[in-house]
Amino acid sequence: MNIDELRAETPGVGSGIYLNNAGCSLMPQPVIGAVQNSFALEAKAGGFPARMQETQALDAVYASVAALINAKPSEIALMGSHTDAWQSVFYGLGFSEGEKILTGRAEYGANYVAFLQMRKRTGCEIEIIPCDASGASDAQALEKMIDDRVKLIALTWISTNGGLVNPAAEIGKVARAHAIPYLLDACQAVGQMPVDVAALGCDYLCATGRKWLRGPKGTGFLYVREERFDDIEPATIDDFGASWRAPDEYELRGDARRFETHEHAPALRLGLGAAVDYARALGLDEIRRRVRHLAMSLRAELARIPGVTVRDLGSERAGLVTFSHERVAAADITAALHKAGVWVKTVPRAGALLDTTERELGELVRVSPHYFNLESELESFLKALHRALGP
Ligand SMILES: Cc1ncc(COP(=O)(O)O)c(C=O)c1O
Repeated sequence: MNIDELRAETPGVGSGIYLNNAGCSLMPQPVIGAVQNSFALEAKAGGFPARMQETQALDAVYASVAALINAKPSEIALMGSHTDAWQSVFYGLGFSEGEKILTGRAEYGANYVAFLQMRKRTGCEIEIIPCDASGASDAQALEKMIDDRVKLIALTWISTNGGLVNPAAEIGKVARAHAIPYLLDACQAVGQMPVDVAALGCDYLCATGRKWLRGPKGTGFLYVREERFDDIEPATIDDFGASWRAPDEYELRGDARRFETHEHAPALRLGLGAAVDYARALGLDEIRRRVRHLAMSLRAELARIPGVTVRDLGSERAGLVTFSHERVAAADITAALHKAGVWVKTVPRAGALLDTTERELGELVRVSPHYFNLESELESFLKALHRALGP
């Protein structure tokens, strides 16, 4: 990787030290160009003629996303966000009283409030997969929880509040062995490491464009395993996802795009496609290697600062580094760093409330370097942190 070149084509690196890639990364020029060119065409030709001229390029986005995760293009739906994708599957599953959702302790807040709403509406039950000694969801413990009432296994692969990488493929083996639908939140994984849906054994996988993929905001995608196409109806449909065959009849599309609706922004989709191609050209193994190297050295440095505790769980850890300080609140640290031009994030307790409650944690500071960050930027962050913490 030529980091200098990669930075040269990332306009955002000029505005401070950007270490919030788990929140929303910086777009590289090819992504920006794809979005701008498409908007320019739309402005000049009009939305529908432009759409016609871009048909092939838009089709290619499905192929790119599919190649990124080892799926078929027909198994991909392009969505407005991770949450859009996740909800359209979750709310389409249809739960009844007594049916169970099994999930992890680090489940993402947006997913968990949907479980709670489903429980309120239907009387379904939520059970938490116990953690192993490292704090990751334990696949062996999951095996013991399986019975006829389990309707869904839903897991957040990489937590929002730390480097924890759950053993998603081991969980997938249990799900496949019992033919239980498996919904994987891969929001913090896609773009920072290789993702292979066949190895993961998931039936549904959701991701966002703006984080590690460095795509535009307002993009995401859904993967649906082909064998599951007819198992659920999308939570909501329009006459793109389904054709109105007769006055009393509709027929769902024969591919994952049944989860899409007619209206979308071609420019953003093309930006997402460019982001996927960019990541694939760099190599996901290489991206993972560098992100983990930066995150590991950051953890080691943070652990040496008096009063600082690194809070990341798991034996495998990704590029999200979280910490707290015994005296200075996370929000105050983040605010001081922002003033110094260093962009990190305060993660709220509710990002993963089961986990923060169990570990009795307050808010944490999250630092998430991407491959384009420099070692010298991490040093500047540490200096700014020392100043923020005071004598
Ligand atoms: C683990 C996880 N899942 C889901 C989301 C939500 O993604 P989106 O904002 O694209 O819906 C996030 C965003 O921070 C996340 O960290």
